[in-house]
Amino acid sequence: MLRLWLSLLSGISTFLPVLAVHAYAPVLADAHSFANPSVFRVQHLDIDIAVDFVRQQLHGDVELHIQRITQTSSLAHTLILDTRDLQVHKVDRLDNNRWTPTIFSLGEAHPILGTPLSIPVLPNTQKVRIRYETSPDATGLQWLQPEQTAGKQHPFLYSQAQAIHARSFLPLQDSPQVRVTYKATIRTPSTVRAVMSANNTPAAPRNGIYTFAMPQPIPSYLIALAVGDLHFKAMGSRTGVYAELPYLEAATKEFEDTEKMLEVTETIFGPYAWDRYDILILPPSFPFGGMENPRLSFITPTIIAKDKSLVSLIAHELAHSWSGNLVTNASWNDLWLNEGFTTYLTYRIMELVYGKERWAMERVLGQQSLMSNRKSLAPSALSLVLKLDGHDPDDAFNEVPYEQGALFLFDLERQLGRPIFDNFLHQYFKHYRFKSLSSAEFFVYVQDTLGKKYPAKIDLQRVKKWLYSHQLPSDLPLVRSEAFTRIDATRNQFINQAISSEQLITITASWTVHEWLHFLNNMPAQLNLSHLKTLDQYFHLSETTNNEIAHSWLLLAIRHQFSPAFSRLKSYLLTIGRRKLIKPLYQELMGYPEGKKMAQEIYLEARPGYHYITQRTLDAIVRPAHK
Ligand code: BES
Ligand code: ZN
Repeated sequence: MLRLWLSLLSGISTFLPVLAVHAYAPVLADAHSFANPSVFRVQHLDIDIAVDFVRQQLHGDVELHIQRITQTSSLAHTLILDTRDLQVHKVDRLDNNRWTPTIFSLGEAHPILGTPLSIPVLPNTQKVRIRYETSPDATGLQWLQPEQTAGKQHPFLYSQAQAIHARSFLPLQDSPQVRVTYKATIRTPSTVRAVMSANNTPAAPRNGIYTFAMPQPIPSYLIALAVGDLHFKAMGSRTGVYAELPYLEAATKEFEDTEKMLEVTETIFGPYAWDRYDILILPPSFPFGGMENPRLSFITPTIIAKDKSLVSLIAHELAHSWSGNLVTNASWNDLWLNEGFTTYLTYRIMELVYGKERWAMERVLGQQSLMSNRKSLAPSALSLVLKLDGHDPDDAFNEVPYEQGALFLFDLERQLGRPIFDNFLHQYFKHYRFKSLSSAEFFVYVQDTLGKKYPAKIDLQRVKKWLYSHQLPSDLPLVRSEAFTRIDATRNQFINQAISSEQLITITASWTVHEWLHFLNNMPAQLNLSHLKTLDQYFHLSETTNNEIAHSWLLLAIRHQFSPAFSRLKSYLLTIGRRKLIKPLYQELMGYPEGKKMAQEIYLEARPGYHYITQRTLDAIVRPAHK
């Protein structure tokens, strides 16, 4: 069919005038999209969809406003969109202000990329309108039963589009090089409220029809929707929380410093471009800690620790409002441009809001996780710039783009001095505002700015190595924490039984969550069961309410087969779906026969409650129990 109308339309294209100049930077290759944005750009979406909790489907219409970029290409008469598991019912086209139905064709399904949708367009086509429905298995949506929510009364739906899952709930050009504005009407049962990565209005009546506008252009992976029994509480004049009632108070208290974080970030890196910054608390099955959906970060409830110990995650998602949402990686090979910059900004925010000591502790913990993570990665995953062609970009999620990216920026800061580097970052965010760039373009920008202005300060060869080499330089800008040096001493005494349990209780009384994490994460491989017993007896680690401490403790418990912790281990794995917290536990369990059996049993029970992204990762580890 595709070939048929290509030949019908090819006659027309020979008469088209050539557009010599256009406002867009040349489109770089994106190995994770079928779309042809160098020929047509989708600029705006008008979405009108209904949320069907019974059939676990979205269905409705999306109108795509398209701009023709070039007419010389042989494909200048076909708009190609990304889809995955979508049923397309019909496509209409607006040519010269008249809607007419058009044929369309869905290509072959690709295991990673989904299915290209090809739509013939004319020289004067302004819009296409697609009527479609999603699959109950849409990889970018999680449908939760009331029992899986905090309030237990109402169902919950949320989307997670990064990296290439937007196409499973919207037909579009699913590449971070294409930005769209959008308007949306979301139709739901009237008992629940819809929110989006757009202008949410908490005062809107709960009547089952919610309308949104996102006036700033965003890449497709930032389009987001959630529906549930959501309530709103303000934190500051520009910040607030959307959550189910059982989380609302605790979350607003926990994240009350968000407004301040927003203010300090603006003072260094330039004005906040997105109007409001709100936080949405999701159910604990959310596969990530947080997702930087513009105006509304999606956040796991597992960081509500009651002592603000895990709020760097909020700083991280907020920082994406500059690095990622304003200035975006051109492809998933350049993920470090989003995550490394954001990790660097996060540390800067944490220093300004919580001081140097906490800053140092968090940096050391970050350095440690990078170094230990690097040991388990393939060489191809060890450089900042990746080659993900043929791979699922979800697999690029490890510490390298994050902590190694941040170390690189701390290295630049050390070479140039903080004032110069801050000014560079400020200019960078301004220069690439609402644009996407590749690592190669980043290098050229560094060369043209810092390289020209401060040739004596910056080593451009070293910058190149940071981007492309699998090795780290020998003189890394590493940080030390004095508090952690004291923890190391206490740990040694504890292991060598040089202090009594009473002394240990006295010493640890003032420890922060980070000190505990450092204490637990750096235990030697050889540890007696009696050590674990002492820790559990005096510090009740199996009952800790801090999910990061629980994670570190449970890893130790598995490693040393400390069975009193296993009932907590089970409930932890059954309630939390955050991949970063549970993947290492399953991996550790798979390391010995009884552990493997336990992992498979628990996974069988837990898997249906996990999000697709977590399921996919764990299927590869805990095979073949779920079959
Ligand atoms: N944007 C990421 C999450 C993501 C990355 C989703 C790649 C899909 C593909 C988000 O900002 C993030 O980094 N989350 C981290 C936060 C942490 C590093 C503070 C997480 O979820 O663990
Ligand atoms: Zn991030």
